[in-house]
Amino acid sequence: MKQQLAEIKQRALEALAAAETPAALEALRVQFLGKKGELTAVLKQMGKLSPEERPAMGQLANAVRGDIEATLEARKAAVHAAALEARLAAEAIDVTIPGKPVSLGHQHPMNQVLQEILDIFVGMGYTVVDGPEVELADYNFTKLNIQPGHPSRDRSDTFYFTSDDSVLLRTQTSPMQIRTMETMQPPIRIVAPGRVYRKDEADATHSPMFHQIEGLVVDEGITMGDLKGALETLMKELYGQDAVMRFRPHHFPFTEPSCEMDMQCHKCRGAGQVDGQVCSTCHGEGWIELLGAGMVHPDVLSGCGIDPNRYSGFAFGMGLERMAMRRMQINDLRLIFDNDVRFLSQF
Ligand code: PHE
Repeated sequence: MKQQLAEIKQRALEALAAAETPAALEALRVQFLGKKGELTAVLKQMGKLSPEERPAMGQLANAVRGDIEATLEARKAAVHAAALEARLAAEAIDVTIPGKPVSLGHQHPMNQVLQEILDIFVGMGYTVVDGPEVELADYNFTKLNIQPGHPSRDRSDTFYFTSDDSVLLRTQTSPMQIRTMETMQPPIRIVAPGRVYRKDEADATHSPMFHQIEGLVVDEGITMGDLKGALETLMKELYGQDAVMRFRPHHFPFTEPSCEMDMQCHKCRGAGQVDGQVCSTCHGEGWIELLGAGMVHPDVLSGCGIDPNRYSGFAFGMGLERMAMRRMQINDLRLIFDNDVRFLSQF
């Protein structure tokens, strides 16, 4: 029996040493240590031994079991470690391979022009302010001297929210004049860029949503000369020192006197024709309308609690898309809103 045990031990340890997989190890465990295994079979013969022999043989059998179990555990750990090593080697990541390039976007061309314009105004001491796109009719119209019944309040031009027409999508940034004068005391020098909405069909020069930049300056002794100076500075900074502009009389309910400013067409240089053909950029006008402006109406000033006998001011409102189209040589307004990357990546 002693010999049998020694023989089992030797075979078991050799077989374990040769086993390379968890499945092979498990099969050996069953073969040697299992309920129907070889060791159990030997132990079953213990009954045949004399009572004196039994303890020593029992001890030996336990020692053999212990040795086989210890070797089995050691082999299991080794096989597991080897499998992990193999997997790590197979799945190794080469961190030195160059990454896939990520394509970076950039600012929209219209926002680039907006930033240029705001920078120029900030350089002249203006503050940039922001206001709501959902506006009260009071601010969009009434406080700007546009009384109920005025054609510009018509339902066919304006997106109203309420049946009493008291809340709307602002049709211009001019309500920011009122919001500013109600909360600030002169000297006031602000620009207010933002979206405005009108019920327009979209075409090459119209969109139901577009952007304006409002400007407002209020102080003692402000004149139309200051208005012209500010706008000329802007245009020359933006379009070059040789940019030519003109001021035409116009009417706005909230400025008096009022004007519009045109810029000489950059394509035909004011001639209205190119090579005997009507200029396609200005449609033969020779000029491109860029903004409305004027001296803040005394009634608007006093409506906001500013004494028109002491203070005067000018205001202007320009279409940002037009400024951007001119600056970036874009010929169709819709390109600005389509956001086609083939277009955007050109800027
Ligand atoms: N808000 C006017 C428009 O949208 C432009 C304007 C602004 C005119 C400020 C005068 C003063 O046409």
